[in-house]
Amino acid sequence: MTYKSIAVDGPSGAGKSTLAKMLAEALGYLYVDTGAIYRTVGLSACRRGVDPGDGAAVVPMLAGLDIDLRHGEDGLQHMYLDGEDVTDEIRRPEISKYASAVSALPQVRAFLMDMQRELARRQNVIMDGRDIGTVVLPGADVKIFLTAAPEDRAKRRYAELLQRGHGGDYETVLRDIIQRDENDTRRAAAPLRQAEDALLVDTTGNSLEESFDVLLNTIKERL
Ligand code: C5P
Repeated sequence: MTYKSIAVDGPSGAGKSTLAKMLAEALGYLYVDTGAIYRTVGLSACRRGVDPGDGAAVVPMLAGLDIDLRHGEDGLQHMYLDGEDVTDEIRRPEISKYASAVSALPQVRAFLMDMQRELARRQNVIMDGRDIGTVVLPGADVKIFLTAAPEDRAKRRYAELLQRGHGGDYETVLRDIIQRDENDTRRAAAPLRQAEDALLVDTTGNSLEESFDVLLNTIKERL
């Protein structure tokens, strides 16, 4: 039996994870957050005092890396590092920077590829990330490229951080978002870009419900 897959790519804070989670629930698909996997590798580098931008230091770390991804009964994705649930810790702003740096290393991307593809081989998935439609699942049944103005995205990320109790200020969040966009689009390995057959959806100024309706209708038309 072959399963369906939906790829949702786009820059940080475009609403990918919130919307993909809602869509997964509406469609009965498994939601896979690939950014969380890169964040867990970033957290490992941080804990070991490894410079995340230094391939010569990060690559040897991969062989002993114990990363696991499990979906709870609530459908939520939990990340484990060395057996410890790090789902909340990987959301720290500092870890975003570590994730962005390790994700530029081709060896890290190759190391995580099987894990991501294997999930899509076993069930219907909606997977969000930066290179899902272009590299991980180029044959995905539906591809969406979700974007929004940087200020809109920073506002959402800021609200999310406050809600999680991480603190910070809006200007720093905006600066970090612009910096991460730059890292993700400029890197040589699987840069963030819209797949040719992906549908561009700009959520600037839209409410969550409006974006959800547009996406669900688009997906249903294409599946
Ligand atoms: O999506 P999220 O912001 O949690 O991702 C954290 C970082 O992981 C991104 O800034 C990006 O550098 C990297 N990433 C990636 N490829 C993916 C998902 C995330 O390079 N498929």
